[in-house]
Formats: sequence, structure tokens, C-alpha cells
Amino acid sequence: MRLLGISASLLLCISCATTHTSGFDVDEALGYCDSKVQKSLVQLKRDSMDYTMMPRNIGAKDTVWNCRKATCDEWCAGFWPGVLWYDYENTHNEQIKENAEKYTKSLEFLSQTPAFDHDLGFLVFCSYGNGYRLTGDKKFKDVILATADTLATLYNPNVGTILSWPRNVEMLGGHNTIMDNMMNLEMMFWAAKNGGDKSLYDKAVRHAEVTMQHHFRPDHSCYHVAVYDPETGAFLKGLTHQGYSDDSMWARGQAWAIYGYTMVYRETQDPRFLDFAQKVTDVYLDRLPEDMVPYWDFDDPSIPEAPRDASAAGVVASALLELQGYCDDERKQTYREAAEKMLASLSNDYRSGDVRSSFLDHSVGHMPAGSEIDASIIYADYYYLEALTRLKKLNNSASESLAVK
Ligand code: GLY
Repeated sequence: MRLLGISASLLLCISCATTHTSGFDVDEALGYCDSKVQKSLVQLKRDSMDYTMMPRNIGAKDTVWNCRKATCDEWCAGFWPGVLWYDYENTHNEQIKENAEKYTKSLEFLSQTPAFDHDLGFLVFCSYGNGYRLTGDKKFKDVILATADTLATLYNPNVGTILSWPRNVEMLGGHNTIMDNMMNLEMMFWAAKNGGDKSLYDKAVRHAEVTMQHHFRPDHSCYHVAVYDPETGAFLKGLTHQGYSDDSMWARGQAWAIYGYTMVYRETQDPRFLDFAQKVTDVYLDRLPEDMVPYWDFDDPSIPEAPRDASAAGVVASALLELQGYCDDERKQTYREAAEKMLASLSNDYRSGDVRSSFLDHSVGHMPAGSEIDASIIYADYYYLEALTRLKKLNNSASESLAVK
């Protein structure tokens, strides 16, 4: 069919691009991220040539990255290499790839040392995981497999979950598991199906099941921390560490749950996890403010004066772009539109401006500790860029599948 000289395939592509991307231009947003990556590299090279120093945050009054040494207790050290890998994926710029490789290599030591805590997945899968996905380099794979085994040493079979913070057992009164830990299961699933020990799969599934059973309230909002008896496995209590209160819905904790259960469904194809991913998503979406970027904790009594958390919005946008692909038509549309509105808000109203090297402002790291409040934080940038990359791929694949050949 041809209308006014325009082919049917072109019309379908145009209609698909306009219905599926509302309120902002994905390519422009990816270009903006690339320009900030370049700006960051200039700053980092000027300050030092040390590839073990990873961008972590930019305080509300600062303009340049505050960097931290890549050590086993710096949980954010994998996000900057991950940002570089996503930027390389989008730009095919070899200079970015070289930097991605160099920063990634700084984390190799994690595959050769005992586990400090559960954050090994954030550290190694965002860096080496993306590096392997994009290059197929066997050296990357070996590091991921070894680190997945290290992470599994924290698994307690009596409880059925990973001990998230070995250093806090005494303080918290038992075997502790935090919601963030769901994210680190992805590396164990990956290792189990890429040459690693098959028991990694069973441990990851059990962790997700036990967490599903105990770590959520009846409305499907989550505690940040669950404490268990290490011998009997009994659930002892639900607490917060970074949220407003033990009973509040800390925005990033719920974001980790949404992303985590979406990923667990992908890896298991078990419908219990899909159903659960939808439930933990719906309580979050129901309580969002109009611009779809949450307050740092949904129950902070100072709302609407409380700070927002752009990082949670990036994590959830990325998760929903995956989750919508597993859902029936109605939910598919709801989740995809929600993700696009989140990305439009972040792109239009939460950008860092021209001076700062980060992509986004207005994230909250650890409110109760008074740290990283209303700041740029590297993981907000990582998940924002991941979400943009996912959306671009979705738009492209929708155009292809609808095109009349
Ligand atoms: N994983 C720590 C945090 O989300 O702040």
C-alpha cells in the first residue's frame, strides 16, 4: 500500500516511533549521556590517570565527580565501567571501549579474594558482565564465574538466602538479607548457565523464594532488611537501614525488588515470580507522584518537601521495559507507558545541566546517615543509561517487526 508516495512500511515505522516514545527523544538523550561520559573522562584524566578511582557522586554544591578507590567495600565501583560499556554499545566509539576495559580490569581482584559482602553482583556483573556481553572475551567470563562462586559462599542453607552483610550479623541480631541482594542473583543465574556450578541456580531460586515469603508486607511493599535465625532459618524481623522507618516503603528498596523479581522470572520462567514482580510493581506505581519520580521514601512525612530519588526511577524504568515484554496486553501497555513517562521526566527535569559531568541530579544515597542527599550518584546514571538503551532497542525491534516487507 502506498499513500501520497509514502510506503506502508514507513508509515508503520513512524506510527510506532511516535506511539512508543512519549515526551522525549531517546537518541538525543543517549547523545547527552555520551557527551557527559566524554566530559567525565576529561575530568578523570586531568585529575589522575588512576583507573582504580571510580566516579561515585557529585554533591549538590559540587561540579566534578567525587571518586572512590575500587576496593571490596566500595559497592558502587562497577557502575562507572558499566556506564562506559553502555556508552560504547550505543556509540561504537573505540576510545570509550578502551576506557571501559581499563576501568573494568581494576575489579579483577574481586574474583581472587574472599567475599566482603553481597555486592559482588553489582560490582562484577555491571562491569565484567556488560564487557562479556559486548565483546565475548573469555577473560571476562572467567572473572564472572569465579566471582559468582565467591558470592555463593555467603549462602546459608538453613535460611535459604545469602548473608548480605557479614559485618552486621551481631548488630542486626542474626543472618541478614537486604532487598538490594536480589540484584546480585543475576550473576549467579548467569554463571549457572554459562559453565559455572549448577547449584548456583538452585541457590538463587531459593533466595528469591525465601525473600518472597518473608521480606514483604501484605501490600507487597518491602522491608529493606530481613533478619533470620542462622540455625533454624526462622524469620525474626523486618527492619530498615536506609529508609525512613522499619514500616516505610523506601523507594530504592522497592525498585530493587521490581528489577530483581523481573530478572528472576526471566531466568526461571516460573509464573510465581512474574505474578510477584507485577504485585511489587503495582504498589510502587500506585503511590508515585505525578512526574513518576518517587520521593526517596514513600512514607516520609515531610512529602512534598522531601527530596526525590532519581536513581529509583532509573532502576524501575529499566525493569519495566523488561517486565512489559512478559505481560498480557493491558499490563504491557501500562508498564511501557509508565517507563517512558519516567524516562521523559528524568530527561526533561532531572538532568544535571551543562556544568556537572553526571547525567542526572536529585538522587538520595543514605538519608538516615545524612549522606548523598539530593546528589548525582553513579548508579542513577547507570540505570538511566541502561533504560535508554533498552528503550532504543525496543523501538527498533517494534519498527522491524511491524515493517511491511
Ligand atoms: N545497595 C545500596 C543502596 O541501594 O543504596
